[in-house]
Amino acid sequence: MSSSDLAAVAKAMVADGKGILAADESGATITKRFSALDIESTEENRRQYRTTLMGTPGIEEVISGVILYDETIRQKADDGTTIPEFLASKGILPGIKVDTGSKPLALCDGEQVTEGLDGLRERIAEYVDLGAKFAKWRAVIVIDTKNGLPSDTAIRCNAHALARYGALCQEGGLVPIIEPEVLMDGDNDIDTCYEVTLEAQRRVFWELAQLRVELEGMILKPNMVVSGKKCATQASAEEVAEKTLRCLYHSVPPAVPGIAFLSGGQGADMATLHLDLMNKQGPHPWQLTFSYGRALQDEALRTWHGSPDNVAEAQKVFTHRAALTGAARSGSYDPTLESGDLALTAATATQD
Ligand code: 13P
Repeated sequence: MSSSDLAAVAKAMVADGKGILAADESGATITKRFSALDIESTEENRRQYRTTLMGTPGIEEVISGVILYDETIRQKADDGTTIPEFLASKGILPGIKVDTGSKPLALCDGEQVTEGLDGLRERIAEYVDLGAKFAKWRAVIVIDTKNGLPSDTAIRCNAHALARYGALCQEGGLVPIIEPEVLMDGDNDIDTCYEVTLEAQRRVFWELAQLRVELEGMILKPNMVVSGKKCATQASAEEVAEKTLRCLYHSVPPAVPGIAFLSGGQGADMATLHLDLMNKQGPHPWQLTFSYGRALQDEALRTWHGSPDNVAEAQKVFTHRAALTGAARSGSYDPTLESGDLALTAATATQD
């Protein structure tokens, strides 16, 4: 793929009114989510669940792309087409998680580094053959103020790996989603999250420049700047929106076409509200959108609950969530819509 082809895919991923569904949970993670609801985690159950989401009528109005896991990109939809073919037939871009997970960072107690660079060139070539148009790599940065984490070492190692992955993707014809996730699990305040996120993102863009990654052909997937979950004082939604925007303005070059946030354990309503508040303050130099996993899926998963009898109801719930998130994408969300029956066409109509 040429530079202009990569840039066109990146633009399509963050097209007006649209965002990305992250459905690329690893085998271990999806099993944990299923087990919490007493759903058996078989390959067929995972296929049925994910095709329930992807098969929801009309989601292409707000979903530009779906991030798949290695197992899913090789599976088939109910109509016999491969999952990438099924998505492409709806005008949705298939993406693929290519990292192999975060592992303990040697000699850096409590910190992690993401693996998966060995053999990545060959795996990318295979995923392109299978129909993938973009990829994802998630780096994990832990805040632990008592132990002085994150270390500069962890920030540098993870940024370097993200850039090496990004360069391999662009060489092989995939748009890389660059995801430096600062976890929100600690007891730190929002200002600490701001400082760490700013440093992590600045380091990522420095490494991307070193490794010649073209900014027009990538998407940034950051955390929002929030209070740690265990912090006694939780910042308001307005403060989250303001500090997240400030952090982005101080670290992300305007040549990047789009920023697609992860939800990171925020409830669906808060992830939607925060995105909406940021978009209400637009326009910004980049598209500001979502690449949510849990915030888009949680209620649909609870509703589906492993039973084919619940597919229609789960799709209804998923439609509602997608429509609300789509509204936040264009700054036209209102928390009162949560209890309404906003449908997908309504979400799209509000952008006009
Ligand atoms: P969450 O939105 O659940 O954080 O997942 C997004 C994701 O892709 C994490 O890598």
